[in-house]
Amino acid sequence: MSQAKRIALLAGDGIGREVIAEASKLLNACGAAIETAEFDWGAARYLADGVTVPADGFAMLERDFDAILVGAFGDPRVPTNIHAKEILLGMRFKMDLYANVRPVRLLDAGLCPLKGIEPKDLDFVVIRENTEGVYVDAGGVFKQGTDDEVAVQEDINTRKGVERIIRYAFDYCEKHTKLDGSPRKRVLMSDKSNAMTHAGGLWQRVFKEVSRDYPQIKAEHMYVDALCMQMVKDPRQFDVIVTNNMFGDILTDLAAGLQGGLGMAASGNIHPKKTSMFEPVHGSAPPIAGKNIANPMGAMLTSAMMLNHLGLTAEAARIERAVLEAVRQKKTTQDIGGALGTTEVGDWVASHL
Ligand code: NAD
Ligand code: IPM
Ligand code: MN
Repeated sequence: MSQAKRIALLAGDGIGREVIAEASKLLNACGAAIETAEFDWGAARYLADGVTVPADGFAMLERDFDAILVGAFGDPRVPTNIHAKEILLGMRFKMDLYANVRPVRLLDAGLCPLKGIEPKDLDFVVIRENTEGVYVDAGGVFKQGTDDEVAVQEDINTRKGVERIIRYAFDYCEKHTKLDGSPRKRVLMSDKSNAMTHAGGLWQRVFKEVSRDYPQIKAEHMYVDALCMQMVKDPRQFDVIVTNNMFGDILTDLAAGLQGGLGMAASGNIHPKKTSMFEPVHGSAPPIAGKNIANPMGAMLTSAMMLNHLGLTAEAARIERAVLEAVRQKKTTQDIGGALGTTEVGDWVASHL
């Protein structure tokens, strides 16, 4: 028998703690051979002892764990957001988790704000570059506080970084089917190369080059502004979308809206050869934290995504089926039309695995 997979749980702040508690219930009840360990990294720890990431924290995660499940980071008591930057962006950057994979799926037609869109119509994935772009936070401020103040925020795009994420998207397209079993066939690269010509030019050239290695896959392009409009007008047309860090961030909140809201969206931060990190797309939602109303389904679907990544596909499928059943039977939180609390949704799904 293969060894139990080791999973680090970083619930973080706000509703992150609540949704990870429910996802953990499923991990423990789904029959997967796993061991979990909890870490208290987050705002409360930072406020108590000033530590965001303990010494060698990332090396420890990489060495001792097969995957990491994260809630969310962000707390009004830490207005600089320094802990979120060091922990969350720290994992993405320092552990080199370069592919942020954000599937966009609809569990029930009733969840989509668009007319006439069925689950079969919404089944695409956004592959977001996760280690470069404006998120590098390079730049500076000069003459701060004066009328002459200058703020520079640099957009860093490396040939290697752009190439590996575009290649990841084509490989993903090649290896993954749609939910109905049909093959994926198209990769669409989205940028703003009409205005940001230096970075956009690199993305355009690399995309053309890499696409030649995948003649069976249709390579397409759309400017990111037009893509926003098309995503709302007709999301049926999308298959695999690849884009930079910031555009990917924005597009996936829009796409979460199509899935029923931020409470439904899952994601993985992946390096194919390293310990990868999985987190719901939503944040810590301070105004609703501690009220037992946060939707735990994004975190639950994220835990299934993590199990799939670890090869525990049968257990992942059990979680996905049970979440789908909860949606069908309206055993959900208020944000998607149900009447249950966070913990009650967790209990219901756990008992229907
Ligand atoms: P948010 O995702 O926390 O909330 C946006 C809106 O969606 C709010 O109305 C919120 O109530 C709702 N929402 C989010 N998740 C929900 C859920 N599971 N169930 C029901 N409703 C849900 O984004 P925000 O308000 O922009 O940010 C709040 C904090 O979270 C900030 O500190 C931000 O930096 C941080 N954040 C962290 C992550 C992360 O750690 N991965 C992601 C996004 C935002
Ligand atoms: C996300 C979040 C983060 C991001 C924030 C918290 C830095 O919005 O995971 O989508 O912008 O990547
Ligand atoms: Mn975001």
